[in-house]
This record gives sequence, structure tokens and C-alpha cells, in this order.
Amino acid sequence: MNRRHFLATVSATAILPIPTFAAQDTLRLKAETVTQQILPDGDGATSMLGFNGSMPGPELRVQRGERVSIEVENGLEEGTAVHWHGIRLENKMDGVPILTQELIEPSDTKTYSFIPPDEGTYWYHSHYISHEQVARGMMGPLIVEDETPPDVDHDITVLIADWQMAEDGTLSDKFANRHSIAHAGYLGNFARAFLSQDQVKKGDRVRFRLINAATNRIFHINIKGISGSLVALDGMAIPQPRPISELVLAPAQRADLIVDITGPVEFDMPTRQGPYRLADLAVIDTNSDRRAGLIVALSQPNLPTPAEEPSQHLTLKMMGGAMGSRHDGDNIWAFNNTSDLQTNPFGSFKSGETVQITFANDTSFPHAIHLHGHHFYEVDGNGSLGDLRDTTLVNAGASRDIICVFDNSGRWLLHCHMLSHATGGMRTWVNVA
Ligand code: C2O
Ligand code: CU
Repeated sequence: MNRRHFLATVSATAILPIPTFAAQDTLRLKAETVTQQILPDGDGATSMLGFNGSMPGPELRVQRGERVSIEVENGLEEGTAVHWHGIRLENKMDGVPILTQELIEPSDTKTYSFIPPDEGTYWYHSHYISHEQVARGMMGPLIVEDETPPDVDHDITVLIADWQMAEDGTLSDKFANRHSIAHAGYLGNFARAFLSQDQVKKGDRVRFRLINAATNRIFHINIKGISGSLVALDGMAIPQPRPISELVLAPAQRADLIVDITGPVEFDMPTRQGPYRLADLAVIDTNSDRRAGLIVALSQPNLPTPAEEPSQHLTLKMMGGAMGSRHDGDNIWAFNNTSDLQTNPFGSFKSGETVQITFANDTSFPHAIHLHGHHFYEVDGNGSLGDLRDTTLVNAGASRDIICVFDNSGRWLLHCHMLSHATGGMRTWVNVA
């Protein structure tokens, strides 16, 4: 990335907190055109898409094990569908046009209803021409609250994204440029993080829920003014808190941190030209009541245990793109020689089957592979189970094995979450019977 192509950073901007919506009987989201101050105050506002008048959309807070109903009204002039990223829900509520539902046509409403089985940090976004609708702003946080929340003073969501825009705030409409699709995808020239709260006290203990909602950018994030641990990835609590060393979030990935505030908080993205400020969190005052104890693990996820021996071992080979391997698919990118959704699934599993999949990246770009409806274990070098994720980053030329218990029936998408690559052909699906 070249900073010369980057617009001014966000420091000294008053950040409008993300509005929150707690679970009532029915939550309502209206997809619509919004005008949002994305650039620093004083620069132009951006006409884009959002929900309920804002971008990002409201933060939805729901309870594990309790049915939630979300009425989505389409106030756009084109169809849409909303996906609840990372939630292991019923297939027909997954929000994927063609595979799981019909489009929500303009001025129509669809009610999504599901029971979230896991606590943690999730998000929602459009899943129709998503490389464009998400880039235009159709995203928001979805939090499944903890039955026993950790001992913190604040729970703050940090949603990060980037946009391609002019200095007057006008969004570029080059969402499907073939050159960028064949490379790293649509990348913004302006990036920032939206926080659900804009000030804390020194000494406060805070949970940060980081969400990378960008369509294609892998964010490396440095946070100043904190000391603490990583406690969850992609919504799922990790077994033991880990030191926060290098935070890398591929598109759609999440990370939860529990930290003590030691000074003014700055969220930075390192660039060759130095740190690029994504957001500030002001420190007002000191919390002298807080006695900072040990940071302990969050309550652990409850997922089926994989069988000792997987019953199938499949390979998903990523192909194509600029400077990548040739393939027979009829789009820019391919999985196993075919592009886009085919009539036959990449895998057919019986519910409860343990499957190992090798994601082999035979291209010149990193890819963030996302499986719908399930979480899977990343397998480390010695074959042992690593982190539970719903999206895994596989670097150019690298390969990663995952183990998944396919226990959720239905037709599930498996795709690159660099949404330009997905639209360029990196999409397939699996069937769980
Ligand atoms: Cu974030 Cu196919 O999804
Ligand atoms: Cu990709």
C-alpha cells in the first residue's frame, strides 16, 4: 500500500458511536441509502448504503439460546439479502441468494429468525452482489452476549473497514474492476474504525471486539495505550488468553481482547510510511476503584468434538488470478479448476461427519476462506487442533488444513471473503444431509 494514495487519517475526528439495538421482540433493520460522515469532520459526507439511517448499521445484541427475529426491509432500489456471519444457524436463515433464499426485492420485507448457539462477536452484511453492497456500507455488528460476562468496565465494538473515495467523500463506483479483481481486490484509499463508545478512563478494564468488515483488506493492527490479552477469535473463546502480539485480521475475521487502559488509546494500521490512524479512544479521568486481576478465559464454546479419524479428506485448490496457475473455470479465479457455483457441491457430507480439508493456495495472493454455518479447527504443523474459526487466512503459495464436524444440515457456501475474489469466481458450496 502506498500512503500517497491514502487520504488523511482519522485522528482528531469526533467519532459517532455505533447505535445499539438490544433484543426486543423483533429487531428491525431497514436497508437504505444513508449519508454518513466517514471522512474527518469538515470534509465531505459520503452518500452510501447502510441500515436504519447509519453506516455501520446498528449493533444488534442478542442472547445465546434465545430465538431472535430480525425483520429486514429493503429500502434500496435493487434486491438484497442479509447474512449473519459466523452464526451457526438454520440453513434457510443464512441469507445467501439462490442457495438458501430468494432475493428480498425492493420495498419487500423478510424476517430472519434463528437461535444463536454461541456467545461472541459476529457481524451481519449483505450477501447479494456483496463485493459492491458491502463496499457501499451494508454491514453492522452482531453480538451474542455472554451469560456470565467477563469482569470489565466497558464492552466496546471496533468495526474496521476501508473505502475508495474522493476527497469530497464521494464513493468510487469501480467495485468490479477486472484488474483489481485479479489482484488484491477493491481496496480503499481511506480506512477507519468505528467504535461503539468514544471515551474510557485510565485504569479501566475493557473488552474490545474487533471486526474486519472490509471487503478485501487484511488489517494489521497496533493498539497503543493498552495492556492485556487476546481472548477470542471469530466469536469463539480461545482456551487460554494469549499475549497480543501481532494482530492480523483478514476480511470477516474478528478478535476479542481484554485490556487495561494505560493511556490514550490509538488504533493504528502500520504502513511502510508509518502508522495510519484508524481510530482514537479518548482517556478522560482515572478509574481508581478498579483492581486489575488476572485476565481469565471466557466461557468456552460448546461444539461437537471431531472424530479421531476424519471420514473424508478433501483438497480445495485455489487457482487463477494475476500471476496465478491456469485453470479451466470461466471466471478469473477458481477452486479445483471450476469457477463460481456449480450444480454439484464441492463436498457432500452426512450430518455429524468429521472432514479434513486442505486449503491449498496455488495463487500469488492471500485468500480468506470462509465456510458458512460451521466453525472449524485450523490444524497446526504437527496435526493438532488449533483455533476455531469461520474464516481462515491462507497466504500465497501456502496451504492450511482444517478439520470440521459438519453437523448443520443444508447447502452452505464456501468462498473467499475477499469479496472481489468471490465475485471473480472463488465460490463453491457443500451439502450436509
Ligand atoms: Cu461473511 Cu459468505 O460471508
Ligand atoms: Cu481471495
